[in-house]
Amino acid sequence: MDKIVIEGGYPLRGDIRISGAKNSAIKLMAVPLLTDKAVTLTNMPDLRDTRSMAGLLEYLGVEVDRPKPDVMTLHAPKLSRTDAPYDLVRKMRASFNVLGPLLARAGEAKVSLPGGCAIGARPVDLHLKSLEALGAKIELDQGYVHASAKGGLRGAEIVFPFVSVGATEHTMLAAVLADGTTTMLNAAREPEIVDLAECLNAMGAKITGAGRSEVTIEGVASLSGVKHSVVPDRIEAGTYALAAATAGGAVRLTHVRHDHLGSLWPLIAQAGARVSLDKDSVLIERGTGRPRPVDVDTQAYPGFPTDLQAQFMALMCLAEGVSIIRENIFENRFMHCPELIRMGADITVRGREAIVRGVPEFIAAPVMATDLRASASLINAGLAARGETHISRVYHLDRGFEHIEVKLGQCGARVTRQKDD
Ligand code: EPZ
Repeated sequence: MDKIVIEGGYPLRGDIRISGAKNSAIKLMAVPLLTDKAVTLTNMPDLRDTRSMAGLLEYLGVEVDRPKPDVMTLHAPKLSRTDAPYDLVRKMRASFNVLGPLLARAGEAKVSLPGGCAIGARPVDLHLKSLEALGAKIELDQGYVHASAKGGLRGAEIVFPFVSVGATEHTMLAAVLADGTTTMLNAAREPEIVDLAECLNAMGAKITGAGRSEVTIEGVASLSGVKHSVVPDRIEAGTYALAAATAGGAVRLTHVRHDHLGSLWPLIAQAGARVSLDKDSVLIERGTGRPRPVDVDTQAYPGFPTDLQAQFMALMCLAEGVSIIRENIFENRFMHCPELIRMGADITVRGREAIVRGVPEFIAAPVMATDLRASASLINAGLAARGETHISRVYHLDRGFEHIEVKLGQCGARVTRQKDD
C-alpha cells in the first residue's frame, strides 16, 4: 500500500490546472446505459472511482474506451446484463445510481445496496421512494434491490423531504425516458446536477430547472449520442485554494469555475488570504501572518460544501483564535480530527460541532487517511507542518484527486509517494 510523505514548511508558488469533477464524471458515466449511441466524455479525470465505475459498466456490457487520458468513450449498443454485484458497488457508493438507468432501459435490475461508509450510514431510501413513485416495483432481498418496471417507468411528482444530491441525480437518470412528465420538488442544486442535465439535454432529453429546487423532466422516447465536457472539480479547486491559504504562498488555479465556490471565497478572505477571481482562474495569496478564525456551517449547495469541511478545519487549526465548525450533512464526518490532533491541533468535537482552538504550527507525525476529503485535510496540514508527515492509506486520496503529488510538486511542495512498510 502506498503512503504520501510530505516535507512541510515550504510555501506553494505556481499554477495548478483543475481536473474534471469526480462527482460529476461518475454520474455522467451512467448516461450511456440510457442509449444505444456512443457517449464521449472529455475533461475526464483519471481516478480510482472512474476506473471502478468503468469496471462496473464493462461488466454490464458497455464498451469503454480511453483514447486519451482525459477522454472516455462509452457505448452500449445493447446491455449484456442488468445486475450490479456487491463487490463492484461497495467500492464506490455512486455506482448504485446504475439502478435507475438499467430499469429505464431494460425494465429490470438487481443492484446491491451500497451499505454505510466511514462518514455516516448514508441510506438510499429517497432513491428507492423516487423509483417507486415512477412506477417501479422494488423488493429488497439479501442486500440486493430487485426492481422491475415491465411496462416502463411513468412520470410522477416527487417531493424530497430533504435535499439529496444522489437521489436528485438518480431520479433524473430514471425519469428522462419515462412516459410523461416528472417534477422534482426540493431537488439538490449542485453544479454536478446541472452538468448531468446539460449532458442529457444535449442528447435530446427535456429537463428544465436543473440548478433550482424545482426540476421538470418531460420524458422522451430515446436519447442520441453526445460529446460532453465534464464540469471542473470545485472540490479539488477548493482543496488547493485552502492548501495555499494553509501553507502560505501564491497559487493560481486554472480551468476553474469560481462561481461554483461562491461560499468559499469570502471565508478564505475573512481568514486573511487574498483571493483574486479572474475569468476561469483564481489566485490565492497568503503572507506570513497567522490566519484569522472563521466559523463554518456546512450546507447543501449553494452553501458551504461538506466536502471542504475537513480542509477548512486544517486552516482553522492554525488560526489566531477559536472557530466553530458545524457539519450538517453527514453525522460522522470528523474523523480527521484525531489525526489533526496528532499533528498538534487543539480540537474538541461535540456532536455535530468541532471547536477548533488555533495553534501556532502543525508538527509532523505519522497519520492515517480515513476518507477521501479527510486525506486532503491531512495533506494540507502536512504542507504547513514542521517536519516530515507520513500519510498512510492514500488509496482514499486516489479515489478523488488526480496526480495530487505532481500538481503540488509543481508549486514547490515536497511531496512523494512511497511504499508503506
Ligand atoms: C454526494 O453524496 C457526494 N458524492 C458527496 O461527496 C457529498 O459529500 C454529498 O453529495 C453532499 O454534497 C457523490 O457525488 C458521489 P446526499 P450523496 O444524498 O449523493 C442522507 C466525496 O467525498 N440521505 O446529498 O450520497 C445522507 O445520508 C463524497 O466526494 C438519506 O438519508 O449525498 C446524507 O446525510 C462524500 N437517504 C444526506 O442525506 C437517501 O436516500 C445528504 O446526502 C439519500 C441521502
